[in-house]
Amino acid sequence: MKTQVAIIGAGPAGLLLGQLLHKAGIDNVIVERQSADYVLGRIRAGVLEQGMVELLREAGVSERMDREGLVHDGFELAFDGRQEYIDLKELTDGKTVMIYGQTEVTRDLMAAREASGARTFYAAGEVQPHDLKGDAPYVTFEQDGEQFRLDCDYIAGCDGFHGVSRQSIPREVLKEYERVYPFGWLGILADTPPVSDELIYANHERGFALCSMRSPTRTRYYVQVAAEEKVEDWSDERFWNELKSRLPEQTAAKLVTGPSIEKSIAPLRSFVVEPMHYGRLFLVGDAAHIVPPTGAKGLNLAASDVNTLYRILVKVYAEGRSELLEKYSEICLRRIWKAERFSWWMTSLLHRFPDTDAFSQRMQRTELDYYVGSLAGRKTIAENYVGLPYEAID
Ligand code: APR
Ligand code: PHB
Repeated sequence: MKTQVAIIGAGPAGLLLGQLLHKAGIDNVIVERQSADYVLGRIRAGVLEQGMVELLREAGVSERMDREGLVHDGFELAFDGRQEYIDLKELTDGKTVMIYGQTEVTRDLMAAREASGARTFYAAGEVQPHDLKGDAPYVTFEQDGEQFRLDCDYIAGCDGFHGVSRQSIPREVLKEYERVYPFGWLGILADTPPVSDELIYANHERGFALCSMRSPTRTRYYVQVAAEEKVEDWSDERFWNELKSRLPEQTAAKLVTGPSIEKSIAPLRSFVVEPMHYGRLFLVGDAAHIVPPTGAKGLNLAASDVNTLYRILVKVYAEGRSELLEKYSEICLRRIWKAERFSWWMTSLLHRFPDTDAFSQRMQRTELDYYVGSLAGRKTIAENYVGLPYEAID
């Protein structure tokens, strides 16, 4: 079997890249380890930056998002008994974010791919990229007991943090940067009306809490928990009580509770690998970097990597600009590191760290007070939250 671009992984990165390339007339095949239903069963992010929204429109998969997605003009920061509004729209000359779940983005991309007739192999086993340094790379895998070989010009490693792509690059070539935080987020999904029209990020002495949503009838709430907590120990009742205890009083009084439809604990990690390119293999999204969810950047970074690789590949095929491939990693990393910085900063600002002393706690409170009390500070938060601009490829 032959294609131009072999894509490993059918998460949002792989599917969006596949859709954009297909629209540009560049043939691609996606090979995914799990079934489509399994991929759709994962509950992940929910805030889309404007750049990603525009990229989904360009990919022709925005019809339902534009109908059902919720445009948010800002969010609340709650700390020290205060509730402060960060007016994203006003602070960034009109930019906003879109609330639309990663699951829905994935569903729309899968539907578009199916309609386009582009080839996708789900439930593929033993996926392995080969000959990355040569000019004829290929991917092998099996499906239903049958062996496949996919010859290609380039391989896009869109297979997430635990995927095979990054692991196929010799260790000595890569430099890894990592920080593991001493806590996780316990999240629940519930069919209840949101407690507030927009998101609330709360810094509380019992730990961080976040009120988010997927739609006007479906909510997503999180509380910071110790890294070793077990989800089995958290009944719905215990979760709702803990959440209420960390929210401003009037907000807690309005909170509508209900049975959870999903409950899970996610660890918090910052991770970057450099470079994101080895021969004809390009790492995209979570395969190359992880951010703690506090800045809502994980999915959006995957989209900005896709934007960069897609625009480079279009120029490679249409204009013979192969030299641009050498720039992929550095272009992506400039934006990634800034999002890493923002996510790390938001995480340090809003969480309770296990062994902080009284001085550090005062510093955290003062930093919040300073940033929300200064126009420059609020603008800094807002311009990062709505997403830094994508770099042009020329
Ligand atoms: N072979 C084929 N597919 C694989 C392999 C493999 N060896 N390993 C993993 N995969 C698949 C996973 O099953 C998953 O469907 O690759 C896909 C990777 O998808 P994601 O983990 O969703 O990563 P990505 O597409 O980069 O999306 C970015 O943003 O909100 C954040 O972390 C969140 O998922 C999110 C991400
Ligand atoms: C979510 O809705 O899942 C969500 C929202 C904002 C974040 C992280 C997660 O910062």
